[in-house]
Amino acid sequence: MEYMTTAQIREAYLDYFEKKGNKRMPSSSLVPDDPSLLLTSAGMVQFKPYFLQQKQLEEPYVGTTTVQKCVRTNDIDIIGTTGRHLSFFEMLGNFSFGKYFKHEMCAMALDFSVNVLGLPMEKLYFTVFEDDDETIQIWKDLGVADDHISRLGEDDNFWRAGPTGPCGPCSELYYDQGPAFGCGSPDCAPGCDCDRFLEYWNCVFTQFDGQEDGSFKELPKKNIDTGMGLERIAAIMQGVQSNYETDVLRSLVAVGERLAGVSYGDDAATDLALRIIADHSRAVTFMIADGILPSNEGRGYVLRRLLRRAIMKAHLIGIEGLFLNEYVDEIVRLMGDVYPEIVENRELERKLIMAEEERFGATLDHGQAYLEEALRGLEGDMLPGQTAFVLHDTYGFPVEITSEIAAERGIVVDMDAFDAEMAAQRERARSAGAKDAEAAWSTYGGVYADLLRELGPTAFVGYEQASAEATITALVKDGERVEALEDGDEGVIVLDRTVFYAEMGGEVGDTGIIEDGEAAADVLDTTAPEKGLHAHKVRVRGGAVRAGDAVVAVLDGMRRASVARNHTGTHILHAALRRVLGDHVRQAGSYVGPERLRFDFTHFEALTPEQIAEVERVANNEIMRAIPISTYETTLDEARAEGVTALFGEKYDADVRVVAAGDFSSELCGGCHVSNTAEIGFLKITGESSVGANTRRIEAVTSFGALAHVNRIEAELRETAAELKVPLFDVSERTASNLKSFKELQQAAKRGKEAVSDDGINELLSLVQMAPAGYPVIIAKAPAVESGGQRHLWDVVRARMEQPGAIVIAGEKDGKAMLMAAGTDEAVAAGFDAAQLIKAMGPAIGGGGGGKAAMAQAGGKNPAGIDDALAIARDMVL
Ligand code: SER
Repeated sequence: MEYMTTAQIREAYLDYFEKKGNKRMPSSSLVPDDPSLLLTSAGMVQFKPYFLQQKQLEEPYVGTTTVQKCVRTNDIDIIGTTGRHLSFFEMLGNFSFGKYFKHEMCAMALDFSVNVLGLPMEKLYFTVFEDDDETIQIWKDLGVADDHISRLGEDDNFWRAGPTGPCGPCSELYYDQGPAFGCGSPDCAPGCDCDRFLEYWNCVFTQFDGQEDGSFKELPKKNIDTGMGLERIAAIMQGVQSNYETDVLRSLVAVGERLAGVSYGDDAATDLALRIIADHSRAVTFMIADGILPSNEGRGYVLRRLLRRAIMKAHLIGIEGLFLNEYVDEIVRLMGDVYPEIVENRELERKLIMAEEERFGATLDHGQAYLEEALRGLEGDMLPGQTAFVLHDTYGFPVEITSEIAAERGIVVDMDAFDAEMAAQRERARSAGAKDAEAAWSTYGGVYADLLRELGPTAFVGYEQASAEATITALVKDGERVEALEDGDEGVIVLDRTVFYAEMGGEVGDTGIIEDGEAAADVLDTTAPEKGLHAHKVRVRGGAVRAGDAVVAVLDGMRRASVARNHTGTHILHAALRRVLGDHVRQAGSYVGPERLRFDFTHFEALTPEQIAEVERVANNEIMRAIPISTYETTLDEARAEGVTALFGEKYDADVRVVAAGDFSSELCGGCHVSNTAEIGFLKITGESSVGANTRRIEAVTSFGALAHVNRIEAELRETAAELKVPLFDVSERTASNLKSFKELQQAAKRGKEAVSDDGINELLSLVQMAPAGYPVIIAKAPAVESGGQRHLWDVVRARMEQPGAIVIAGEKDGKAMLMAAGTDEAVAAGFDAAQLIKAMGPAIGGGGGGKAAMAQAGGKNPAGIDDALAIARDMVL
């Protein structure tokens, strides 16, 4: 067996299976097209429809082969503590959908292992599902010794991706690393938890479709799904003890060594941190490249957790500041040729990671302060689970970090209580997830899926023409198929061909009319409840429409033209944003209607007014250059190679449509566009706002919408100018000066209210008494003053008292009672305590308050108690 690099193993595998007739296909996104899964966790995920025979592989292929990027975080807590577990890994796989099965697969697995990788036969072990005698016989026939084959139960040898869907028994291949790696137990065998027998290849015989109720339905055909962990086999081929010592991951560990100034292998705790950061940084890079943004739920939360765990660990080994991008640079260097998306999204990765590092840097300090506080105030040696949970939930502290810090002070975390809090949170998350899955399910199947199967997709001729002759192929009313829609009915018309664009990719559906000579149906909206099937939502008038009728479909052409202008405007805006802000700008959502457009995109701070103006200028420059729009069909691969902008997470067919405005903008898009940018006329940004931590929104109008917007602003301004009696462009200056005068007047009015008449002050001063403690004091009903005016009153009184003293007053305002006690430093030194007085007086007025010895106030709802309150003060002071 010879040393092979990770890249060599990857290529050898794909090449081997390609030569065996399997189609080499690209890795699918980490965001699965499957509501039952949060993240792509295995190679078979993208092939579920093939296993279920909903999709077929074209001839002459017998199967497929891929290297799939995967993320698994169910065992995140042990990542780094073993050499085998990773959150991000690459899985080599081959898949057969009813073509080859057990015999062929086992033969190929052995052939590849022994003859391509060169693994010695005597080091290979094989497990099979407990009652799978057939596979035992197959291995034996292939020359495997009896004592190298064993049976294992459901936990090890039955594989499923999720609670439901394709699954089946499996047979696994193990490599014996030798007794030195083992636990020494006499029972040590494949399946043991120790490191001796390393499972490197799982061959699943995918025969079943797991049902909601836990039962299994036979799949129409018998299939194969295999997965080989690339990092694991690399460790074997490179003769190293853990995944982290293989070429790719070792280079990432080296980044940490450099940044922290440490050496891998010197210290167990440092090594653990180096491994975790190396692993997590890959997951983070690939998740962002697939359009996942950090958030507090779903896959965004998984991403945030991985990011924070990496930052925390770096903190612990002395890596400070923004550092994660150094890892990403290395990842891009090592893996960018196989996964171009991490290169294409480099700017986004950089900006997003920096933003999270900065944000978490701030919470990290707060969280540490919170933990310090909790540890200081702690009685006993157990930190409550609730505290660890708050740290986890609010400050993003993984519990093991909290445990580590606590352990340094000899304190343990109440893990049972913590787990209970986590379980409660998971339950909340699960019920939210279940709802999502339900929602996704309810749109699936039903009458439209049947119609699509029966009728095929609707031919769309609406890019070129505004009207077309067509035949009604089906009618739907209240979710049921019907033969006719009568006068006044609302329902859905399906045509064999149509000019009506169905709402998709942010663009609204078309409206217009479908006529058959007598009756007419007003098309209120058009949607695609199943991809390719246009459902025209209509209200019928002047007669009935019937299935089979020949009709004419006519668009509301004015409305469609406005939509097209806004759609092309959106592309121009997108390209302008990338020019002005940078390549990290990616579309996160959009709405394109006849009146306005909305564009959501990744960016991490508000745009400055200058940036908004620049985006607008760049966009309008392209509009005024009158660039012809070209649309053409190509393959996804070609489009990618040309650098056409594709949307995250969007499923594209192998054949795609490109919409380009010269070399300024080109995007994959199925929408309706103008034929020249000049038709957009004018693009005006009307709003910029935040829609989440990492996403901004721009609202804009074009053409007549922009004209209407500008006219509205002008009318408003004219009206204001008329009111102010100034020329149009003096409005802001006049408004500012008016506002200034208004504020001055307001302040003067306030001062007037606060001022207490001289008579009032004189009256108070005439009530001075000498406290036995030796300072003058006034204890009296207060003259009426505004709230906040009492302090002012005290300022005046204290200045006019002959000797430094104190005051205790009680007053009424708006049916409520107010108390104030205040004393000079001298009075306080002599024993006057405003806080104590107010505390004692509060109950008499049915309220309370507080303050310091020199000043305290209270309010209460019982003004009738004012005299009593003053009596209490007299008792205490005099
Ligand atoms: N789906 C199986 C696994 O992930 C084999 O590919 O192990």
